Parts: sequence; C-alpha cells; structure tokens
Amino acid sequence: MTRRTSFRPTAIAIMGIIALALGLDVTAPPVSHAGEVLVYSARHYGEEAAFQAFTKKTGIQVKMFNGSTGELFERLKAEGERTPADVLLTVDAGNLWNAARAGLLSKVDSPELASSIPPNLRDQDNRWFGLTVRARTIMYNTTRVKPAELSTYEALGDPKWKGRLCLRTSGYIYNQSLLATMIKRHGEPRTEEIARSWAANQPVLINSDGKILEAIAAGQCDVGLTNHYYLARIVAKDAAFPVAPFWANQQTTGTHVNVSGAGVTTHAKNRASAVKLLEFLASPEAQQMFADLSFEYPANPQAVINPLVATWGKFKPDDINIASAGEFQAAATRLADRAGYK
Ligand SMILES: [Fe+2]
Repeated sequence: MTRRTSFRPTAIAIMGIIALALGLDVTAPPVSHAGEVLVYSARHYGEEAAFQAFTKKTGIQVKMFNGSTGELFERLKAEGERTPADVLLTVDAGNLWNAARAGLLSKVDSPELASSIPPNLRDQDNRWFGLTVRARTIMYNTTRVKPAELSTYEALGDPKWKGRLCLRTSGYIYNQSLLATMIKRHGEPRTEEIARSWAANQPVLINSDGKILEAIAAGQCDVGLTNHYYLARIVAKDAAFPVAPFWANQQTTGTHVNVSGAGVTTHAKNRASAVKLLEFLASPEAQQMFADLSFEYPANPQAVINPLVATWGKFKPDDINIASAGEFQAAATRLADRAGYK
C-alpha cells in the first residue's frame, strides 16, 4: 500500500505531462448544474452540432469534457459517486463494454432508444448504445490492385500479399475488436491461424488509420485495413486519391462493423436530461448530423447514408452482437501476441 501511494503522485505527474504533450485538457471537468448534462467524451468527430441542436430543442445545456478513452475511464473510476459526468461518449464497443463491466454505466430502459438502435449495436442490458457505425474493411491501391484479387480478412494472409500489407499495430483497440469478433465467429485456434498468416506477410505496422491510407496511396503497401470514414475524409478533399474500399467477407460473415456510442453514468446527477440527450442523439435528426459530419453510417436505419459514402455501395455487415468486441478483447490481445502480430 505504502509503495503504491508513494508512486501515485509521480504517475499522475507523468500522465499530466503526457496529456499536455497530446494537447488534452488537463483541467478539472466543469461542474454541471441542474438541467444541464455533462458529457465525458473520447469521441472527436464533430458531434458538437448535434449537441447544439439538442440544446435548441430542449433548453438543456450540454457541457463537454474531452479526454482519451483511458483517461476518462480512470477518471470515472477514481471519481466514483462524486463524478460530475452524466454521460460517457466514446469509440469502439470494446471500450463501452469495458466501462459497463467496471460498473461505470447504468441501465437505461427507454423504448425510444430500443426502437432507434438495432439490438446488435447496443448492450443487451442497455448500459450503452451504439450511435454511429464504422466499417473496418480492406482498403486497396486502385492502380496496383484489382478488386477481383480481394475477398476476405482471412485472405490477407495469403503469401501473395507478403510485403504488400499495411496493418494497424495490434495494441490499438480497432484491430483488437476485429480479432475479438473473429474469435466469437471462428474460435481461437482459427483466428490465431489468421493472425499468424498476417504476421507472416511481414506487414508494415502503422499506428494510425489515416497514415495507413497514405501509405497505400504512396505505394508503400498495396492493401490494408482501416475504418471507412478515414478514407471518406480524404476523398472529400481529394477525389483522385488512389485508394478504394473493398467490402470484406461478403460471401461469408460480412464486413466487420463497430460503433461509437454512449451510456448514462452510474452516478449521473442529471439522469433524466442525460437519457433525453441519448434519445435525441439516436433520433433521425441527430443521426443525420453524425452521418454527414463524420462520414460514419447512422446506427438508426431511418437516417440516410452520406452521399459520398453511399457511392461505395451497399454491403453486408457482420451482424454479430458488437458486445463480443469487449467479451473477447483480452483473448484477442493474447492471441495477437502468440501469433507474432505486434
Ligand atoms: Fe477513429
């Protein structure tokens, strides 16, 4: 105990320095007042417009406190009952699942949320709800690869891609969640085989989806895996960018989709307003703002897909319950390690 206590100030100081270096807000979160909602947000994809529309509609002010997923998770845990946060908004079902498991999110029984968000994109105990959908699929250089050469995530382990594959490092949650859902589908032995075959192709490991796309465009690699909206953001500015998405696993399990989403905190002081905010964010009106500002797919099927993203055509998404990204996250991390996928 003594050792731990004596180390804590140093750890906090180091975290503060890292946070400062990353440009994060290291000040205390704002205090929320009755009738306001305080959102801890680790999602940084232009959600402010939806919050403003909510305030306009309801008169309820929304305050934001931004941070990384890890920072906000630790903060919520440390604050416990004293937390000023009413809502946690973050990316990846794996992160939402972790927060729910740690007891940081509470059950919300809202018929509106239940009808807006499909069951596979929310927690079965209604502690979190997916609000936007992102497809993590194969991206290829349009001058060096023909779509006919592509098929599945598994097939990226084919020796023909040796030295031609870019992958995000396995330490980041996006590919952990992909592997986790593969474990749910295929079991650990088969998924390990797949990860091993990727590693055998000596992928260029890059810790940024945007940089993977740039590497593919530059010919540093020919194929890779990224979330679709990173490409949409680039193509919106540069229509001639020589990278296109290929919808993976259309003949089999479907393309892996994940969510960004939110839940009401366990110790929310403004619970009723927080639930109202979530209901609004899931409504077609707010979903349309998300879809058009971030190029993600709306989670609510009543909202319309952004026209740029729609040019990539319809695809069959993997309809597995996205909670499996959390359930098998630890197994996925260990598996990547065993497979030599760094
Ligand atoms: Fe992202």
